Amino acid sequence: MTDPAQVAVGGKNNEYPVLSGSVGPDVIDIRKLYANTGRFTFDPGFTSTAACESKITYIDGDVGTLLYRGYAIDELAEKSNFLEVAHLLLNGNLPTASEYQAFSNNITRHTMIHEQLAQFYRGFRRDAHPMAIMCGIVGAMAAFYHDSTDIHDPHQRMVASHRLIAKMPTLAAMAYKYSIGQPFVYPDNSLSFAGNFLNMTFSVPAEKYIIDPVVEDAMEKLLILQADHEQNASTSTVRLAGSSGANPFACISAGIACLWGPAHGGANEAALDMLREIGRPERIPEYIARAKNKDDPFRLMGFGHRVYKNYDPRAKVMAKVAKNILDKLNIDDPIFDVARELERIALSDPYFIDKKLYPNVDFYSGVVMSAIGFPTSMFTVLFAISRTVGWIAQWTEMMEDPEQKIGRPRQLYTGPTERDYVPLAARG
Ligand code: CMC
Repeated sequence: MTDPAQVAVGGKNNEYPVLSGSVGPDVIDIRKLYANTGRFTFDPGFTSTAACESKITYIDGDVGTLLYRGYAIDELAEKSNFLEVAHLLLNGNLPTASEYQAFSNNITRHTMIHEQLAQFYRGFRRDAHPMAIMCGIVGAMAAFYHDSTDIHDPHQRMVASHRLIAKMPTLAAMAYKYSIGQPFVYPDNSLSFAGNFLNMTFSVPAEKYIIDPVVEDAMEKLLILQADHEQNASTSTVRLAGSSGANPFACISAGIACLWGPAHGGANEAALDMLREIGRPERIPEYIARAKNKDDPFRLMGFGHRVYKNYDPRAKVMAKVAKNILDKLNIDDPIFDVARELERIALSDPYFIDKKLYPNVDFYSGVVMSAIGFPTSMFTVLFAISRTVGWIAQWTEMMEDPEQKIGRPRQLYTGPTERDYVPLAARG
């Protein structure tokens, strides 16, 4: 039992319990702080705040460890497929053979979407960013699947979870097809989760699309590596949206909106754009200098992380996946050489060493997605397909928590104090 924390405010001392998790830093339970002292804590960006209790994902940012339900990410990426990992995140255990069969049948049977949803795409300009389409279309699912929007019914919650995981690839592939003017391709339930997505994205009615096992394997690994990452910005958004009782489709749509930002999931698109802009290793020093210049807003995209102060374990696996797919498909992509050299130079530069800035998952994921054949505008969409599992697992955990409350942060108000209203004619 850890000693309680002492907080002295205005000469009065109060004790606050210190709670221990199964691993990781203890937390000071300050829920009674306001009642005791009339003071709030101030922590913009939540740099020191645990907003919930969770059993799903653990990160040790100093060591560079990432565990899904206790299993190391590199081992899962090496040995599991995405649906096993999805089962693990949702249910807490790697599935037995029969559980796997039941789960994958369930997900596979939910891959089609209501035909009328397809009409929605036509309302978007044909050059719409696929993430803009995803924000709208996933929220619109709530209008179609009323039988899974009762958040108080565990069965409906489960059905909504399965629908979201299963239909995201279909919706994402349709967003891509719409943007390039090709017909939508229906799901094929004989294919794997990754294979089905590749087929819906890259096949055309005129020609048979053969799924390359190297590409399918890279796709599985991409999906696994990005499936959950504890209380990141988009997951916290999903939890906050869900805390008000919003339906799961609306909550996941909120998560997609948050993921889109370049400081979060949008970094994969920005990182590859940056590598392309750099173009050749000789230009790297210029970009390193810009990243270090405080007067220049430029940052090395795919570098740095709020939690990792060591190499992001996902980036380690992603770099291997990138090398493997380029080698096996015989792709000579100069971007990969630029990325490797940029990493080497940055990791020997005192600026990056002192600030503990390492490549994150987005640094190499763009190289992989580009080798598979995706345009950069689809990168964050792929991230969203994968992260939907984490979002829905976290949302479910929150909904099952009997102590769940609406999320309602407070503030340090620095605006005007109450003042007299001045009528328009009297305002100078
Ligand atoms: N390039 C150059 N300098 C950087 C970078 C970077 N990529 N990242 C952080 N810094 C500097 C930053 O200027 C600051 O310097 P100082 O202390 O002198 O002001 C210091 O490092 C700490 O940065 P911060 O912005 O206070 O840290 P944060 O925890 O608020 O931000 C981050 C984390 C990921 C938003 C940030 O590192 C960043 O913008 N990275 C680039 C975008 C990116 O790759 N995002 C993907 C994150 S991983 C996938 C995901 O979670 O979605």
